[in-house]
Amino acid sequence: MCGIVGYVGKSQALSLVIDGLRKLEYRGYDSAGIALAPDLQPENLENKLWVEKKAGKLSNLESQLTGEIPNAHSAIGHTRWATHGGPTDLNAHPHLDNEGKLAVIHNGIIENYLDLRKELEAKGHKFTSQTDTESVAHLLSDARKAHHGDLAAAMREICGKLRGSFTLLAIHADDPSRIVGARRNSPLVVGAGEGENFLASDVSAFISQTKRAIELGQDEVAEITADSIEVTNLKGEKLPLKEYEISWNAQAAERGGYEHFMLKEIFEQPKAISDTLIGRLGKEGKVIENNIDLKNISKVVIVACGTAYHAGLVGKYAMETWAHLPVDVELASEYRYREPYADEKTLVVAISQSGETMDTLMALRYAKSQGAKIVAICNTQGASIAREADAIVYTHAGPEIAVASTKAFETQIIAIYLLALQLAKVNQTISPELIAELEYEIESLPNKVEQILETVEPLRELTRKFKDANSMLFLGRHVGYPTVLEGALKLKELAYMHAEGFAGGELKHGPIALIDNGTPVVAIMPPANSIIAEKMASNIQEVKARGAVIIQIGDHKLASADHYIHIPTSPEFLQPVLAVVPLQVIAYEMAVARGNDVDQPRNLAKSVTVE
Ligand code: G6P
Repeated sequence: MCGIVGYVGKSQALSLVIDGLRKLEYRGYDSAGIALAPDLQPENLENKLWVEKKAGKLSNLESQLTGEIPNAHSAIGHTRWATHGGPTDLNAHPHLDNEGKLAVIHNGIIENYLDLRKELEAKGHKFTSQTDTESVAHLLSDARKAHHGDLAAAMREICGKLRGSFTLLAIHADDPSRIVGARRNSPLVVGAGEGENFLASDVSAFISQTKRAIELGQDEVAEITADSIEVTNLKGEKLPLKEYEISWNAQAAERGGYEHFMLKEIFEQPKAISDTLIGRLGKEGKVIENNIDLKNISKVVIVACGTAYHAGLVGKYAMETWAHLPVDVELASEYRYREPYADEKTLVVAISQSGETMDTLMALRYAKSQGAKIVAICNTQGASIAREADAIVYTHAGPEIAVASTKAFETQIIAIYLLALQLAKVNQTISPELIAELEYEIESLPNKVEQILETVEPLRELTRKFKDANSMLFLGRHVGYPTVLEGALKLKELAYMHAEGFAGGELKHGPIALIDNGTPVVAIMPPANSIIAEKMASNIQEVKARGAVIIQIGDHKLASADHYIHIPTSPEFLQPVLAVVPLQVIAYEMAVARGNDVDQPRNLAKSVTVE
């Protein structure tokens, strides 16, 4: 939800901020804007900031950046996912004070903005947008005056008055060498360079310039100049800088010859899985980064949203069977408002690629307040969910740029298998021989995913045949059920097509009424030795008999299949890692065939930092 970049330093700020916004566009693409603090004030600017903003994607803003643009070594930029106020030029960020000297960009929601706006309007402030953010610009402008030009002190003061979630960056024309940022429940990280510093929603905005990052905690204010970084709490106390080295490389965030990030990320899956397994298997393997007592757990609750929720559903099957524990999987947005029971014996597993999803973060906090132990499965180092958990299993998928998640999903499933096996080892619920066998099979998954990827061309061709279908249905049983839920979600997100995933056994209780002559049904067939193999074959027959066109995924072809997509054999619990790959390819190809924006589907954003 909204990407934020700030730069102060030796280079021209405009190109670096635009470049950073390009990397963050996955966070929102309803509008984009930039505010430059010129080195020398052009006469017509009367000591104001130079601001340009435009509705639509970043490319709209870029095409506007013509004519005379002043030299500037500091700037802030924003790419928006609209919450308050539609995606128009006026509602685009930055928002300015009435003098045009102070600019603010924001990610999150200011819940008390209407009250603030009324107070500010009563004092004579004039508003030009419908956003919650504009109130902050006016409030900060007054506070800066009261603090005799000290922008950081003003920021600390106003943070105390704001309710909701926010990352804020501010810049002032009278003090162009400084940018001030603050965060509460939304992400912000400092990039520490040589003679230049950055503030951004995530590290991908600046990894091409520096790999040194500084974590910011809740309610902390950061002040950067070209040569200094200062972090304080809201009382103004100086805090030690928590610096870390970014392990991702800059090329990882580039498309590298692929037509879309999503396709590149689908093909990166074997490596992402291998990387997530490194050092984690066998007797010496270490799955969890921090020590946490995995004994005396009576229940596991997995909380997550979207694709991560589907990874959690797959995890439930494995964990219940291997670790002999009851496992609930909850949509984080439902869990947190239900006041569910949790105690010290509850292990809550929060799964999140970004580590910033607000619903998941709030569910985690709720569970923590009840005394539960929290393990985060997270792909982003230093993210809020990782920081607030008691223990972490990092997935090593690398940066995932396409909004629709692929490689992160695969590594989330791997991480939850590893956690389930860890619990099984600690509590000795399955034999060491079975554990060794499962680990051997898990280790062979990257190779098997690679084999599937080598044979996707015919599947792409087949998908295009269904491009005008009104709807596509997906069938699965056991772990195949959460897998088809993910397949249907991918198709909805990317192809804007009606798609639903059903449990094979549930068909007869209603969904079978949807089947008509020619309805495409994608069915995942479990391995032949599964106790539900025959049942699933019957379910496929049932829809075939009613006119469905069957696209079967599996390790052996059924006579009823109209089209067959082969995946290598694996133990049933591990099959989702393989079966989801063709489903991702179907969704990708369908989006391309329908002329949709694959990497930035309409109405979506990758990191959802609002409720
Ligand atoms: C958004 C994205 C989904 C993602 C979900 C959870 O809705 O569009 O692709 O699965 O958030 O994101 P997280 O970062 O918590 O895994």
